[in-house]
Amino acid sequence: MQETLPIHFAPLQGYTEAIYRNAHATCFGGVDTYYTPFVRLEKGNFRKKDIRDIEPDNNHLPHLVPQLIASSPEKAETILALFIEKGYKDADINLGCPFPLLAKRHNGSGILPYPSEVKALLSIVAKYPQISFSVKMRLGWENPNECMQLIDLLNNTPLRQITIHPRIGKQQYKGDVDLKSFANFQSLCNHPLIYNGDIKRIEDIQSIHNQYPTLKGIMIGRGLLANPALALEYREGRKLSSDEMAEKIREMHTMLFQYYEQQLNGGEVQVLNKLKAFWEYLLPEADKKSLKAIHKSNRIDKYRLAVNNLLNKALF
Ligand SMILES: Cc1cc2nc3c(=O)[nH]c(=O)nc-3n(C[C@H](O)[C@H](O)[C@H](O)COP(=O)(O)O)c2cc1C
Repeated sequence: MQETLPIHFAPLQGYTEAIYRNAHATCFGGVDTYYTPFVRLEKGNFRKKDIRDIEPDNNHLPHLVPQLIASSPEKAETILALFIEKGYKDADINLGCPFPLLAKRHNGSGILPYPSEVKALLSIVAKYPQISFSVKMRLGWENPNECMQLIDLLNNTPLRQITIHPRIGKQQYKGDVDLKSFANFQSLCNHPLIYNGDIKRIEDIQSIHNQYPTLKGIMIGRGLLANPALALEYREGRKLSSDEMAEKIREMHTMLFQYYEQQLNGGEVQVLNKLKAFWEYLLPEADKKSLKAIHKSNRIDKYRLAVNNLLNKALF
């Protein structure tokens, strides 16, 4: 069994954009691979923010994998062409997104009940041997057996790895993860497997690793938004003190603050909205009154005061 597993920072649309990833890598680190939130086509075009987000000049990370979401090989190829143009050698294919608007058009986990459509989509893997593809998926859309019907197809597709979030799409993020179905999938899957879902503490990583010793990595999303030091703490085998955490959060927050002020030309409301997103999952055990004051603040000066108040108290 590997001593510590590589940690992958899950893509989170609206949270883990380039500035967040850069600031996280600079101030905390401990993550082996970051992923961009999915790039998709909107009425046949790219969204400008997606292009900005994957731009190599905007990303300063040891390893970044761009992710695409598409319902057909044609759309996937259009997105892949952008990744190739930007110089990427890896691409992650999203077969897990549960958002109903996308899923009902057979994107993300919405494609999982249709093996022939998954097969068509994954045909891009063989077509672009210069690209190292990975897949991030759920167990199914409405039934956890859907992934089992795809196992031969997946095993016959040359993938670098598969990340599994063991829920079905219809669950969204509710209910428990289905570890039994994860184990069934693992027993038949020939690809390196990465576990993803509800990891909040070092002990959760260790417990999953003990249960599935052949895992090749752990992907963490909301757990890292809540505790950006989680990967670092796991790697170093020690927890940060409240003071150390406050210092690193302050540093990361300053990077985000300066970036948004510059990028949004000081538009106070926009800057505040962006910064408030940073606090949505962060430090859930911190002082409730200060967290509330951050979310309620409607002016930058009030916001700054609320952040200082919070970081000057014990954080957990
Ligand atoms: C707000 C939000 C946005 C997400 N955006 C993406 C995305 O762009 N691509 C993707 O593959 N998964 C996305 N996910 C799913 C996460 O990557 C991850 O699979 C999920 O949150 C479960 O992992 P966690 O329990 O560690 O957070 C998103 C999840 C949330 C809550």
